[in-house]
Amino acid sequence: MTNQPTNAPSWVSSFYDRKGQVSGPSGVLDHHRERASAIKRFGGKSQGRVLEIGAGAGGSAVATAELGYRVVAVGLSPVRAGFANDLTRGRADLAIEVLEADFMTVALVDKFDAVTCWNGFGVGTDADQRKLLRRINQHWLAEDGVAILDIFNPVGWSRLAGERSLDEETGLRSALDFDAVENRLLDNWWFDGDTQPPMAQSIRCYSPPDLRLLLEGTGLRLADAEVEGIPLTEVTPGVDGPMASAWGYRVLIIPRLLSVHTLGACAAPRGRATSNSLAVQVHMTGKPCRVKRHRARASRSASVRTVVAEGV
Ligand SMILES: C[S@@+](CC[C@H](N)C(=O)[O-])C[C@H]1O[C@@H](n2cnc3c(N)ncnc32)[C@H](O)[C@@H]1O
Repeated sequence: MTNQPTNAPSWVSSFYDRKGQVSGPSGVLDHHRERASAIKRFGGKSQGRVLEIGAGAGGSAVATAELGYRVVAVGLSPVRAGFANDLTRGRADLAIEVLEADFMTVALVDKFDAVTCWNGFGVGTDADQRKLLRRINQHWLAEDGVAILDIFNPVGWSRLAGERSLDEETGLRSALDFDAVENRLLDNWWFDGDTQPPMAQSIRCYSPPDLRLLLEGTGLRLADAEVEGIPLTEVTPGVDGPMASAWGYRVLIIPRLLSVHTLGACAAPRGRATSNSLAVQVHMTGKPCRVKRHRARASRSASVRTVVAEGV
């Protein structure tokens, strides 16, 4: 664990700490296990090193380690990093390291076969997100490494704007809003009672074409995307389709220098790329497929030992 200086927006640490305090630890739940299993299913390896950024209370990171991956989990909130550390205590069977650090500045020695960000991409500005994507590509991805990210869907969240909730367990009020100018989800929580101003998390939402534009100049490209487990190339694009209501979709991102190979018993592609579909359609039925790098690079240490140094 470490306390590094952070450039994150000022609301980030305070919001997620407060939310962590009221919600408490999450444990390891079904949706955490689903995320962990998605690494292999959605184009990553079945073993190796995984860097999870924005790891929160650690449920997904522990589920990932339980599958045999060696995991480094990075999160900014001390409260949530504490919950994550609690989950790992006494688990000598797991190779997992929890770092309380800013993923925009943390320096890690090792490279990773997969970088994951579950439900946490979009906290900063577009420039921040581009910087983060470059860090993934230049500093963290090992040879053949992939990034798997959950992306907030602007259409889904804009349709929920105005919805109000009362949490039965905590008695807290919350209200969803959507900044239609900046395309950001605004998730307001009244942590200090109804008479005080709410605290909000503000998450940039990207449509698939917007995400492709964001990736330009980062050295990464969109290789696959799915919503509710279905490739985007196969879903109905209209208002009855899942992209008109889903909170988010999942993307597979790879270095531009990688090409897609079908390995072993990979089946034929389920969909065909069209001018409207993703740049590269690599979603396969059956066994997941790997990506290979055109240009060979020296292989790196397989250790997950992580050293945090000055920001990059
Ligand atoms: C929406 S929550 C998602 C948490 C977790 N991935 C999950 O699905 O439960 C976003 C998480 O990202 C973390 N986070 C935001 N900005 C960060 C940063 N710059 N460095 C590290 N963690 C960050 C927050 O502390 C928070 O736990």
